[in-house]
Amino acid sequence: MRAFPEKLQKHILINNLSFTYATHTSPQLKGISFMIKPGEKIAIVGENGAGKSTLVKCLLGLYMPDNGSIKFDGVDIRTIDPKSLREHVSAVFQDFESYNLTVRENIAMGHGKIDDDAYVEVAAAKAGVGELIKNLPNGLDTELGAMFHQGHELSGGQWQKIALSRAFMRDAQIVILDEPTAALDPRAEAEIYDNFAKLYEGKTTIMISHRLSSCRFADKIIVLHNGEIIEVGSHEELLHLEGSYADMFNTQAKRYSA
Ligand SMILES: Nc1ncnc2c1ncn2[C@@H]1O[C@H](COP(=O)(O)OP(=O)(O)O)[C@@H](O)[C@H]1O
Ligand SMILES: [Mg+2]
Repeated sequence: MRAFPEKLQKHILINNLSFTYATHTSPQLKGISFMIKPGEKIAIVGENGAGKSTLVKCLLGLYMPDNGSIKFDGVDIRTIDPKSLREHVSAVFQDFESYNLTVRENIAMGHGKIDDDAYVEVAAAKAGVGELIKNLPNGLDTELGAMFHQGHELSGGQWQKIALSRAFMRDAQIVILDEPTAALDPRAEAEIYDNFAKLYEGKTTIMISHRLSSCRFADKIIVLHNGEIIEVGSHEELLHLEGSYADMFNTQAKRYSA
């Protein structure tokens, strides 16, 4: 097993990737090929069930492809030590969990810097919950959730930001946001995605959403449909193409303004 490249220099290459869930006979990802350069902001968009989360799980090394390859500076993901991969590629998912634990534990559980207040506070501030935590009765050590006798209950949006803080605890080279905001309205989601892109300026980020407006500032947008890439380009390029992306974008824009 090899370590993940210390600092990505060239690219992440996804080449002709296919993946089939054990419960299926036909593949959920088909012939996926694209390149990511270090520091690029990538968005993966497409309707529910298009294969976005499956692709992310392949990039995280959680699923092994049937065919094709994923290479980080030429190193095949199959040969990378899973622990090293986890340190360098981190993700926040839609089905994030909220625990009946303290704020500190929710943000930093399993992290070596859990007792470093300043470090945890910086991660929380990046996710937009710095003020909230300062105002809690016991700061980072406030117990969250209704299971505690005097536990402090948070709103759905606040829990989401606590979950985001977890991603900020890690100094991963590649950070993935897979619709952790699905319960929020489109405008609130767009705000979190904008903020995320700004905070991770210069880092390689991959943002996933079925809401196209969240991802329009990405350097490169990949449009998935039924497990295949149907269009790739910037927001402007894809609008000019007047294809599926343009159709979906205009439909969603109309729906949200109505
Ligand atoms: N754990 C799983 N087992 C079997 N099929 C799955 C599983 N997860 C997703 N799928 C199927 O794979 C396809 C792609 O799903 P997914 O990657 O979750 O799409 P998206 O994230 O774009 O909404 C869908 O047809 C979905 O039903
Ligand atoms: Mg998904």
